[in-house]
Amino acid sequence: MTVLVTGGAGYIGSHTVVELLNAGYEVVIVDDLSNAKADVIDRIQTITGKSPAFHPINCADKGGLCNVFRSYNINAVIHFAGFKAVGESVKKPLEYYRNNLDSTLTLLEVMEAFDCHKLVFSSSATVYGPNNPHPYREEMPAIQSSSPYGWTKVMIERILTDYCTAHPEFSAILLRYFNPIGAHKSGLLGDDPNGIPNNLMPYIGRVAAGQLEKLTIFGGDYETPDGTCQRDYLHVVDLAIGHLKALEYAQNNSGAEAINLGTGNGISVLELVTAFEKVNNMKLPYEIGPRRDGDLPAFWADATKAKELLGWEATHTVEDMCKSSWEFAKKSKES
Ligand code: WQD
Repeated sequence: MTVLVTGGAGYIGSHTVVELLNAGYEVVIVDDLSNAKADVIDRIQTITGKSPAFHPINCADKGGLCNVFRSYNINAVIHFAGFKAVGESVKKPLEYYRNNLDSTLTLLEVMEAFDCHKLVFSSSATVYGPNNPHPYREEMPAIQSSSPYGWTKVMIERILTDYCTAHPEFSAILLRYFNPIGAHKSGLLGDDPNGIPNNLMPYIGRVAAGQLEKLTIFGGDYETPDGTCQRDYLHVVDLAIGHLKALEYAQNNSGAEAINLGTGNGISVLELVTAFEKVNNMKLPYEIGPRRDGDLPAFWADATKAKELLGWEATHTVEDMCKSSWEFAKKSKES
Protein backbone atom coordinates (compact mmCIF):
# COMPACT_ATOMS: atom_id res chain seq x y z
CA MET A 1 0.00 0.00 0.00
CA THR A 2 1.35 3.44 -0.98
CA VAL A 3 0.93 6.37 1.41
CA LEU A 4 1.50 10.00 0.44
CA VAL A 5 3.01 11.96 3.35
CA THR A 6 2.76 15.72 2.90
CA GLY A 7 5.32 17.56 5.03
CA GLY A 8 7.16 14.24 5.35
CA ALA A 9 10.56 15.93 5.78
CA GLY A 10 9.39 17.74 8.93
CA TYR A 11 9.78 16.80 12.59
CA ILE A 12 6.68 14.62 13.05
CA GLY A 13 6.41 13.76 9.36
CA SER A 14 9.89 12.24 9.14
CA HIS A 15 9.39 10.12 12.26
CA THR A 16 6.09 8.90 10.79
CA VAL A 17 7.76 8.05 7.46
CA VAL A 18 10.31 5.90 9.35
CA GLU A 19 7.53 3.96 11.08
CA LEU A 20 5.62 3.55 7.77
CA LEU A 21 8.69 2.20 5.96
CA ASN A 22 9.53 -0.12 8.85
CA ALA A 23 5.94 -1.42 8.72
CA GLY A 24 6.29 -2.23 4.99
CA TYR A 25 4.36 0.66 3.45
CA GLU A 26 5.53 2.33 0.23
CA VAL A 27 5.96 6.06 0.96
CA VAL A 28 5.88 9.16 -1.24
CA ILE A 29 6.89 12.45 0.41
CA VAL A 30 5.90 15.88 -0.84
CA ASP A 31 7.53 18.73 1.07
CA ASP A 32 8.45 22.26 -0.06
CA LEU A 33 11.30 22.31 2.51
CA SER A 34 10.07 25.68 3.87
CA ASN A 35 10.65 24.34 7.40
CA ALA A 36 12.70 21.20 6.81
CA LYS A 37 16.07 20.18 5.39
CA ALA A 38 16.53 17.95 2.32
CA ASP A 39 19.10 15.79 4.15
CA VAL A 40 16.29 14.41 6.32
CA ILE A 41 15.40 12.15 3.35
CA ASP A 42 18.93 10.69 3.42
CA ARG A 43 18.68 10.23 7.20
CA ILE A 44 15.41 8.32 6.76
CA GLN A 45 17.21 6.09 4.27
CA THR A 46 20.11 5.55 6.70
CA ILE A 47 17.71 4.55 9.49
CA THR A 48 15.41 2.28 7.47
CA GLY A 49 17.57 1.13 4.56
CA LYS A 50 14.70 2.21 2.29
CA SER A 51 14.33 5.28 0.06
CA PRO A 52 10.96 7.01 0.06
CA ALA A 53 10.11 8.84 -3.17
CA PHE A 54 10.50 12.58 -2.62
CA HIS A 55 8.99 15.52 -4.53
CA PRO A 56 9.95 19.06 -3.37
CA ILE A 57 6.57 20.70 -3.99
CA ASN A 58 3.97 22.65 -2.02
CA CYS A 59 0.54 20.99 -1.84
CA ALA A 60 -1.07 24.14 -3.26
CA ASP A 61 0.75 23.37 -6.53
CA LYS A 62 -2.15 21.52 -8.17
CA GLY A 63 -0.25 20.54 -11.32
CA GLY A 64 2.67 19.21 -9.30
CA LEU A 65 0.39 17.28 -6.97
CA CYS A 66 -1.53 15.78 -9.92
CA ASN A 67 1.76 14.58 -11.38
CA VAL A 68 2.56 12.84 -8.09
CA PHE A 69 -0.83 11.13 -7.99
CA ARG A 70 -0.41 10.19 -11.66
CA SER A 71 2.97 8.61 -10.96
CA TYR A 72 2.00 6.43 -7.99
CA ASN A 73 -1.04 4.40 -6.93
CA ILE A 74 -1.68 6.40 -3.75
CA ASN A 75 -4.11 4.64 -1.40
CA ALA A 76 -4.06 7.11 1.50
CA VAL A 77 -2.62 10.45 2.60
CA ILE A 78 -1.14 11.66 5.88
CA HIS A 79 -1.28 15.44 5.75
CA PHE A 80 1.33 17.26 7.87
CA ALA A 81 2.25 20.07 5.46
CA GLY A 82 1.51 23.52 6.81
CA PHE A 83 3.04 26.50 8.62
CA LYS A 84 2.98 25.90 12.38
CA ALA A 85 4.68 28.70 14.34
CA VAL A 86 2.07 30.21 16.67
CA GLY A 87 3.82 33.55 17.17
CA GLU A 88 4.68 33.95 13.49
CA SER A 89 1.04 33.29 12.54
CA VAL A 90 -0.05 36.32 14.62
CA LYS A 91 2.35 38.54 12.60
CA LYS A 92 1.58 36.92 9.20
CA PRO A 93 -2.08 35.78 9.24
CA LEU A 94 -2.58 35.98 5.47
CA GLU A 95 0.40 33.74 4.75
CA TYR A 96 -0.92 31.18 7.26
CA TYR A 97 -4.49 31.17 5.96
CA ARG A 98 -3.35 31.12 2.33
CA ASN A 99 -0.77 28.35 2.79
CA ASN A 100 -2.53 26.05 5.25
CA LEU A 101 -6.02 26.29 3.73
CA ASP A 102 -4.96 26.35 0.05
CA SER A 103 -2.73 23.31 0.46
CA THR A 104 -5.53 21.35 2.12
CA LEU A 105 -8.24 22.36 -0.37
CA THR A 106 -5.96 21.55 -3.31
CA LEU A 107 -5.03 18.21 -1.76
CA LEU A 108 -8.71 17.28 -1.36
CA GLU A 109 -9.49 18.23 -4.96
CA VAL A 110 -6.62 16.12 -6.26
CA MET A 111 -7.50 13.18 -3.96
CA GLU A 112 -11.05 13.31 -5.37
CA ALA A 113 -9.78 13.43 -8.96
CA PHE A 114 -7.65 10.34 -8.30
CA ASP A 115 -10.20 8.38 -6.28
CA CYS A 116 -8.26 8.50 -3.00
CA HIS A 117 -10.58 8.42 0.02
CA LYS A 118 -8.42 8.00 3.12
CA LEU A 119 -6.85 10.94 4.98
CA VAL A 120 -5.12 11.34 8.34
CA PHE A 121 -4.84 15.00 9.29
CA SER A 122 -2.34 16.67 11.62
CA SER A 123 -4.58 18.68 13.92
CA SER A 124 -3.73 20.10 17.34
CA ALA A 125 -5.02 20.40 20.91
CA THR A 126 -5.05 24.12 20.25
CA VAL A 127 -8.53 23.67 18.70
CA TYR A 128 -9.96 23.21 22.23
CA GLY A 129 -9.32 26.88 22.88
CA PRO A 130 -9.14 28.54 26.34
CA ASN A 131 -12.61 27.65 27.67
CA ASN A 132 -12.76 23.87 27.86
CA PRO A 133 -11.93 22.15 31.17
CA HIS A 134 -9.05 19.66 31.02
CA PRO A 135 -8.49 16.81 30.47
CA TYR A 136 -9.76 17.60 26.99
CA ARG A 137 -12.22 15.12 25.46
CA GLU A 138 -13.00 14.89 21.72
CA GLU A 139 -16.71 15.63 22.18
CA MET A 140 -15.92 19.03 23.74
CA PRO A 141 -16.38 22.12 21.54
CA ALA A 142 -13.30 22.48 19.32
CA ILE A 143 -14.34 25.67 17.64
CA GLN A 144 -11.83 28.34 18.58
CA SER A 145 -8.17 28.97 19.00
CA SER A 146 -5.84 31.73 20.16
CA SER A 147 -3.80 32.24 16.98
CA PRO A 148 -4.27 32.25 13.18
CA TYR A 149 -2.23 29.01 13.18
CA GLY A 150 -4.75 27.43 15.55
CA TRP A 151 -7.68 28.84 13.59
CA THR A 152 -6.38 27.12 10.43
CA LYS A 153 -6.61 23.83 12.33
CA VAL A 154 -10.19 24.61 13.42
CA MET A 155 -11.12 25.54 9.84
CA ILE A 156 -9.48 22.50 8.26
CA GLU A 157 -11.27 20.20 10.73
CA ARG A 158 -14.51 21.88 9.58
CA ILE A 159 -13.60 21.49 5.89
CA LEU A 160 -12.83 17.79 6.36
CA THR A 161 -16.00 17.18 8.39
CA ASP A 162 -18.19 18.81 5.71
CA TYR A 163 -16.31 16.97 2.96
CA CYS A 164 -17.01 13.64 4.69
CA THR A 165 -20.70 14.53 4.93
CA ALA A 166 -20.78 15.09 1.17
CA HIS A 167 -18.65 12.03 0.40
CA PRO A 168 -19.76 9.09 2.61
CA GLU A 169 -16.95 6.89 1.27
CA PHE A 170 -14.31 9.32 2.61
CA SER A 171 -12.49 8.79 5.91
CA ALA A 172 -10.76 11.70 7.67
CA ILE A 173 -9.02 11.07 11.00
CA LEU A 174 -8.36 14.37 12.80
CA LEU A 175 -5.45 13.69 15.13
CA ARG A 176 -5.27 16.32 17.88
CA TYR A 177 -1.65 16.39 19.05
CA PHE A 178 -0.69 17.59 22.47
CA ASN A 179 3.01 18.46 22.93
CA PRO A 180 5.30 16.22 20.88
CA ILE A 181 8.95 16.15 22.05
CA GLY A 182 11.87 13.75 21.88
CA ALA A 183 13.75 12.28 18.93
CA HIS A 184 14.49 9.06 17.10
CA LYS A 185 16.85 6.76 19.03
CA SER A 186 19.43 7.02 16.20
CA GLY A 187 19.93 10.72 16.99
CA LEU A 188 19.46 11.39 13.26
CA LEU A 189 15.92 12.81 13.43
CA GLY A 190 14.53 15.37 15.86
CA ASP A 191 12.93 18.77 16.34
CA ASP A 192 15.33 21.11 14.53
CA PRO A 193 13.47 24.35 13.74
CA ASN A 194 15.12 27.08 11.66
CA GLY A 195 16.33 30.01 13.81
CA ILE A 196 15.58 30.44 17.52
CA PRO A 197 13.11 27.72 18.68
CA ASN A 198 9.69 28.83 19.92
CA ASN A 199 8.93 25.50 21.58
CA LEU A 200 10.31 24.43 24.95
CA MET A 201 12.26 21.24 24.26
CA PRO A 202 14.24 22.35 21.19
CA TYR A 203 15.12 25.51 23.12
CA ILE A 204 16.34 23.42 26.06
CA GLY A 205 18.42 21.34 23.65
CA ARG A 206 20.14 24.44 22.23
CA VAL A 207 20.89 25.72 25.78
CA ALA A 208 22.24 22.32 26.82
CA ALA A 209 24.44 22.29 23.71
CA GLY A 210 25.78 25.75 24.55
CA GLN A 211 24.24 27.34 21.46
CA LEU A 212 21.92 29.51 23.56
CA GLU A 213 22.89 31.12 26.89
CA LYS A 214 19.99 30.14 29.14
CA LEU A 215 16.34 29.11 29.18
CA THR A 216 13.71 31.64 30.23
CA ILE A 217 10.75 29.95 31.86
CA PHE A 218 7.72 32.00 30.81
CA GLY A 219 5.94 32.61 34.08
CA GLY A 220 6.38 31.14 37.55
CA ASP A 221 3.16 32.49 39.10
CA TYR A 222 0.45 30.36 37.46
CA GLU A 223 -2.20 28.58 39.51
CA THR A 224 -0.33 25.27 39.22
CA PRO A 225 1.54 23.22 41.87
CA ASP A 226 4.95 24.79 41.11
CA GLY A 227 3.72 27.97 39.40
CA THR A 228 4.83 26.94 35.89
CA CYS A 229 2.57 25.81 33.02
CA GLN A 230 1.58 22.18 32.67
CA ARG A 231 1.39 20.39 29.31
CA ASP A 232 0.85 16.85 28.00
CA TYR A 233 4.27 15.99 26.53
CA LEU A 234 4.40 12.85 24.40
CA HIS A 235 7.29 11.17 22.59
CA VAL A 236 7.34 11.90 18.86
CA VAL A 237 7.82 8.17 18.11
CA ASP A 238 4.63 7.35 20.06
CA LEU A 239 2.93 10.08 18.03
CA ALA A 240 4.27 8.63 14.76
CA ILE A 241 2.97 5.16 15.66
CA GLY A 242 -0.41 6.75 16.40
CA HIS A 243 -0.57 7.76 12.73
CA LEU A 244 -0.13 4.17 11.58
CA LYS A 245 -2.95 3.11 13.89
CA ALA A 246 -5.11 5.92 12.50
CA LEU A 247 -4.29 4.82 8.95
CA GLU A 248 -5.41 1.26 9.72
CA TYR A 249 -8.61 2.60 11.28
CA ALA A 250 -9.29 4.79 8.22
CA GLN A 251 -9.00 1.78 5.90
CA ASN A 252 -11.97 0.12 7.62
CA ASN A 253 -14.14 3.13 8.42
CA SER A 254 -15.53 6.31 6.87
CA GLY A 255 -16.53 9.74 8.13
CA ALA A 256 -14.62 12.35 10.16
CA GLU A 257 -13.23 11.24 13.53
CA ALA A 258 -11.36 13.52 15.97
CA ILE A 259 -8.90 11.67 18.21
CA ASN A 260 -6.54 13.03 20.89
CA LEU A 261 -2.95 11.81 20.86
CA GLY A 262 -1.53 12.51 24.31
CA THR A 263 -0.38 10.68 27.42
CA GLY A 264 -3.22 11.91 29.64
CA ASN A 265 -0.68 13.38 32.11
CA GLY A 266 0.28 17.02 32.72
CA ILE A 267 3.93 17.89 33.39
CA SER A 268 5.14 21.38 34.37
CA VAL A 269 7.97 23.27 32.72
CA LEU A 270 10.04 23.01 35.90
CA GLU A 271 9.37 19.26 36.15
CA LEU A 272 10.51 18.80 32.56
CA VAL A 273 13.67 20.87 33.14
CA THR A 274 14.43 18.86 36.28
CA ALA A 275 13.90 15.56 34.44
CA PHE A 276 16.15 16.72 31.60
CA GLU A 277 18.93 17.67 34.04
CA LYS A 278 18.65 14.40 35.96
CA VAL A 279 18.57 11.95 33.04
CA ASN A 280 21.36 13.78 31.19
CA ASN A 281 23.37 14.48 34.34
CA MET A 282 23.74 18.22 33.84
CA LYS A 283 22.66 21.60 35.23
CA LEU A 284 20.62 23.69 32.83
CA PRO A 285 20.97 27.49 33.18
CA TYR A 286 17.49 29.04 33.42
CA GLU A 287 15.63 31.98 34.90
CA ILE A 288 11.95 32.59 35.59
CA GLY A 289 10.71 35.42 33.34
CA PRO A 290 7.38 37.05 32.53
CA ARG A 291 4.45 35.05 31.17
CA ARG A 292 4.16 34.57 27.39
CA ASP A 293 1.00 36.01 25.82
CA GLY A 294 -1.52 33.34 24.86
CA ASP A 295 -0.16 30.59 27.12
CA LEU A 296 -2.75 28.60 29.04
CA PRO A 297 -1.81 27.55 32.60
CA ALA A 298 -2.51 23.85 32.11
CA PHE A 299 -4.04 21.31 29.76
CA TRP A 300 -3.67 17.64 28.92
CA ALA A 301 -5.53 14.93 27.04
CA ASP A 302 -8.17 12.46 27.97
CA ALA A 303 -6.51 9.66 25.97
CA THR A 304 -9.34 7.15 26.31
CA LYS A 305 -10.69 7.34 22.75
CA ALA A 306 -7.31 6.61 21.09
CA LYS A 307 -6.96 3.53 23.25
CA GLU A 308 -10.50 2.30 22.60
CA LEU A 309 -10.72 3.14 18.89
CA LEU A 310 -7.13 2.72 17.70
CA GLY A 311 -5.65 0.45 20.36
CA TRP A 312 -3.00 3.16 20.82
CA GLU A 313 -1.40 4.58 23.95
CA ALA A 314 1.83 6.43 24.63
CA THR A 315 4.54 4.13 26.02
CA HIS A 316 7.70 6.27 26.17
CA THR A 317 8.60 7.92 29.49
CA VAL A 318 9.58 11.52 30.22
CA GLU A 319 13.12 10.22 30.70
CA ASP A 320 13.05 8.70 27.18
CA MET A 321 11.87 12.06 25.80
CA CYS A 322 14.59 14.03 27.61
CA LYS A 323 17.40 11.58 26.82
CA SER A 324 16.56 11.29 23.11
CA SER A 325 16.17 15.09 22.82
CA TRP A 326 19.66 15.57 24.24
CA GLU A 327 21.19 12.87 22.00
CA PHE A 328 19.71 14.63 18.96
CA ALA A 329 20.76 18.12 20.12
CA LYS A 330 24.35 16.89 20.59
CA LYS A 331 24.48 15.31 17.13
CA SER A 332 22.88 18.39 15.54
CA LYS A 333 25.57 20.60 17.05
CA GLU A 334 28.32 18.34 15.67
CA SER A 335 26.84 18.24 12.14
C1 WQD B 1 5.31 24.71 26.33
C2 WQD B 1 5.48 25.40 27.67
C3 WQD B 1 5.64 27.78 27.54
C4 WQD B 1 9.49 28.01 25.49
C5 WQD B 1 2.66 24.97 21.00
C6 WQD B 1 1.53 25.20 20.05
C7 WQD B 1 0.85 23.89 19.73
C8 WQD B 1 1.86 22.91 19.24
C9 WQD B 1 2.94 22.71 20.30
C10 WQD B 1 2.07 22.88 16.86
C11 WQD B 1 4.65 26.67 27.77
C12 WQD B 1 6.93 27.17 28.07
C13 WQD B 1 8.33 27.52 26.09
C14 WQD B 1 10.45 28.71 26.28
C15 WQD B 1 9.06 28.37 28.22
N1 WQD B 1 2.45 23.36 18.05
N2 WQD B 1 8.14 27.70 27.42
N3 WQD B 1 10.20 28.85 27.62
O1 WQD B 1 2.79 26.58 23.60
O2 WQD B 1 2.16 24.36 24.72
O3 WQD B 1 2.13 24.53 22.23
O4 WQD B 1 3.54 23.99 20.51
O5 WQD B 1 1.20 22.09 16.62
O6 WQD B 1 -0.13 24.12 18.76
O7 WQD B 1 0.57 26.04 20.68
O8 WQD B 1 4.31 24.53 23.43
O9 WQD B 1 6.73 24.22 23.70
O10 WQD B 1 5.87 26.51 22.99
O11 WQD B 1 5.50 25.73 25.32
O12 WQD B 1 8.86 28.52 29.43
O13 WQD B 1 11.52 29.17 25.79
O14 WQD B 1 6.84 25.80 27.79
O15 WQD B 1 5.31 28.96 28.27
O16 WQD B 1 4.17 26.78 29.10
P1 WQD B 1 2.80 25.08 23.59
P2 WQD B 1 5.68 25.27 23.80
